[in-house]
Amino acid sequence: MSGREKFALPPEVIAEQKRIIADIRLINEQSCSKGHARKKAFVETYGCQQNVSDSEILMGMLVSMGYDEASGKDDADIIIYNTCAVRENAELKVFGNLGALKHRKSKNPDLIIGVCGCMMQQKANADEIRRKYKHVDLVFGTHSLYYFPSLLMEVLKSRTPVIDVRQTDGAIAEDYPVRRGEGPCAWVSVMYGCNNFCSYCIVPYVRGRERSRDKEAIIAEVKTLASEGCKEITLLGQNVNSYGKDKGSDYDFADLLSDVCKVDGIERIRFMTSHPKDISDKLIEVMASNKKVCKQLHLPVQAGNNRVLRSMNRRYTKEEYLEKIAKVKAAMPDITLTTDIIVGFPGETKEEFEDTIDVLKKVRYDTIFSFIYSRRPGTPAAKMEDVLTDEQKKECFNRLLEVQDKISYEKNAALKDRELTVLTEGYSKTDSAVLTGRTDGGKIVNFKGDASLIGELVRVKITDVRTWSLIGEATE
Ligand code: 5AD
Ligand code: SF4
Repeated sequence: MSGREKFALPPEVIAEQKRIIADIRLINEQSCSKGHARKKAFVETYGCQQNVSDSEILMGMLVSMGYDEASGKDDADIIIYNTCAVRENAELKVFGNLGALKHRKSKNPDLIIGVCGCMMQQKANADEIRRKYKHVDLVFGTHSLYYFPSLLMEVLKSRTPVIDVRQTDGAIAEDYPVRRGEGPCAWVSVMYGCNNFCSYCIVPYVRGRERSRDKEAIIAEVKTLASEGCKEITLLGQNVNSYGKDKGSDYDFADLLSDVCKVDGIERIRFMTSHPKDISDKLIEVMASNKKVCKQLHLPVQAGNNRVLRSMNRRYTKEEYLEKIAKVKAAMPDITLTTDIIVGFPGETKEEFEDTIDVLKKVRYDTIFSFIYSRRPGTPAAKMEDVLTDEQKKECFNRLLEVQDKISYEKNAALKDRELTVLTEGYSKTDSAVLTGRTDGGKIVNFKGDASLIGELVRVKITDVRTWSLIGEATE
């Protein structure tokens, strides 16, 4: 059975959900015609870009149902938290935020509060919400996203809590409405789920099996985006290099990337995330030879020690990883490299951590995303024992940042006086007189200019640098 047949949501299910969207719209329009203010919706997103992309679908459905987008949760009539389960911190924040809404709900029983996403896909969390957060109206997991219209309708009708945490391998559904953020850049999911089962990671348990969208659906979406003025897209998946494998097809991620490049109007293409074991020579070749593919690669190493990598079930050695990086650098000397690192994985010693520092020094990443290991119940690593104390882990973490900050600054400093092409995304959040955009390598550049440059590719001379951003002047 092909990937599409196995995972595709039946057309009648999609049609039913679309009918319910129209029914809710009618309820909202009737309320407006009676003089009530139009209801507003707010979706708060935690975690990775996949969640951002899911939230764009949620907001797309809500807007189609006749809700306006609220500017924040304070003026919303419906609030949905799209949660992340990768680390405990994000989970605690959600519970805290939900607790804070209790008082508001008691004053305004019409307020609808929903919680969805990876955290809710785990039974223990969904049960905790049911037991301790009785003011929550709607709980649904990642696999229930496409059933959101019927779930919301049930809440509107019954006014009793509705919970849907179905356990499946996951589904694919096309043609759902999407409400994207403003600006010239867009996310496009190419595949969902993960089959890698790294021993620390909850993702394969809450996001289901790897499943690829049809190439035709992806290309059609990219063409639509181009016709709407989008200039840069990021192809998304937990492990994009597995694209097509579930379909048993020879058409792989490198082929897809090369076809996406052919879409007129799209000037830049990025992708993430790649697993080091799956990055192929063919992909490196497509990246290097195609001008539209940004010279940026996010290649999570997680740790530098071979025993730790084995225990993490990463399926590559430090040497194999460094070899891949060497190939990438040989093909694209100017490439921006980024990575994810976990400090304090169970059993990691101080000596083993030194191998991670060694990788940093050898690769010289532009930026790293580093995390202290967080125990995730239900994963194999959750049963492994620690060697380092919390304090020692924190020391390692600080040392990692110290080493990396210096490298990040040096790599940025090497760009001083260079003229780079920047895609202007909008005004800087901290200074409304300053525009902000990204280089081909994905580095943030702040520069002065007027609104006419937003959405445009602008040549900018780099005049100063910081550890995490560049400062420049438009030359045209
Ligand atoms: N603890 C800490 N970091 C984690 N990550 C995934 N699971 C955990 C965990 N249990 C990190 C990995 C991954 C990134 C998205 O989050 O580095 O690449
Ligand atoms: Fe988690 Fe590993 Fe899959 Fe990434 S590849 S989502 S770290 S299991």
